[in-house]
Amino acid sequence: MSEETRTVTAVVNGAETTAEVPTRTLLSDFLRHGLGLTGTHVGCEQGVCGACTVLVDGEPIRSCLMFAVQAEGRRVETVESLARDGELSPFQQAMKDEHGLQCGFCTPGILMSVTAAERHGKTAGETETEVLGGHVCRCTGYVGIRSAIRRCWSEGATRA
Ligand code: FES
Ligand code: FES
Repeated sequence: MSEETRTVTAVVNGAETTAEVPTRTLLSDFLRHGLGLTGTHVGCEQGVCGACTVLVDGEPIRSCLMFAVQAEGRRVETVESLARDGELSPFQQAMKDEHGLQCGFCTPGILMSVTAAERHGKTAGETETEVLGGHVCRCTGYVGIRSAIRRCWSEGATRA
């Protein structure tokens, strides 16, 4: 029996995108394999590690826990949307400068959650607690990530 598919239209990183997808395809797999947006990483595939976090209608969600068809009519933002004209966003730059990443596997998810926190007017302290509490980083001990958040907030430099 052939797999059931459905047409999905969503705005992905500012561009209206239409694709035919199997109804059981996860949003994470659709972004990575369907659209080639491999900046969204997949780790645990059960909503724990946060690596797959993207923004849907401005809210951070685990894309491994959402079907691609559920993105119908919604706005999806991935890590590929953050740098503009070849220039890193202020928080990306701060992560680089403060050594907030090593292997980088967790980084895209953290970048997206921090972006949402900044847009929601969270303080640096709230962002550290709420964002880092939802993302597993096996490399950094979170020290550089915390430094990057504090640096951006103190400089008022994040670009939401
Ligand atoms: S891969 Fe989605 S939360 Fe870990
Ligand atoms: S930088 Fe390696 S998991 Fe976070």
